[in-house]
Amino acid sequence: MKIVLIGFMGAGKTTLAKLLAKEISQEYIDMDELLVKKSGRSSIEEIFQKDGEIHFRELEISLAKELQNRDKVIISAGGGIVMNKIILDYLKQNSTVIFLKNSFETSQKRINNNSRPLFKDKKKAQALYELRLPLYTHYADTSIETDNKTKQRVVSEIMNSL
Ligand code: S3P
Repeated sequence: MKIVLIGFMGAGKTTLAKLLAKEISQEYIDMDELLVKKSGRSSIEEIFQKDGEIHFRELEISLAKELQNRDKVIISAGGGIVMNKIILDYLKQNSTVIFLKNSFETSQKRINNNSRPLFKDKKKAQALYELRLPLYTHYADTSIETDNKTKQRVVSEIMNSL
């Protein structure tokens, strides 16, 4: 089985995937990181700037397709995947999907640099957050609140939910 962590930008998906991977001795894959490697670009920002968001979303689809049959792996997914049912159809195969839920304010606090193209404009980011919130819940098997919790506590809650 694979474990897929979903949630908005700043949910802590990558950090928690790494911690969880150590705890349960499984490999983890960060979709954004792998996608950048495969793209030949140096960052997500560069993909957005030079190739555009639509191309980025196409890369997400082909990566999700590649990952569909992976087993015993923890996947940290990009915050935008819930906008694309095809990606979820791939990732949900033989998997547990966990929504790491936090307030928009928490995301803002956690994101202290400008590296995310879709977080540069705070108003647009908040609109995206509101649009996506019900989608994360819809696709998740389990939702775990992360506001004001330590990483270790969230990891324990994820493990208890498995
Ligand atoms: C995005 C979230 C980012 C990254 C890209 C687009 C989004 O991932 O995939 O900047 O649409 O929410 P994180 O959620 O890991 O920041």
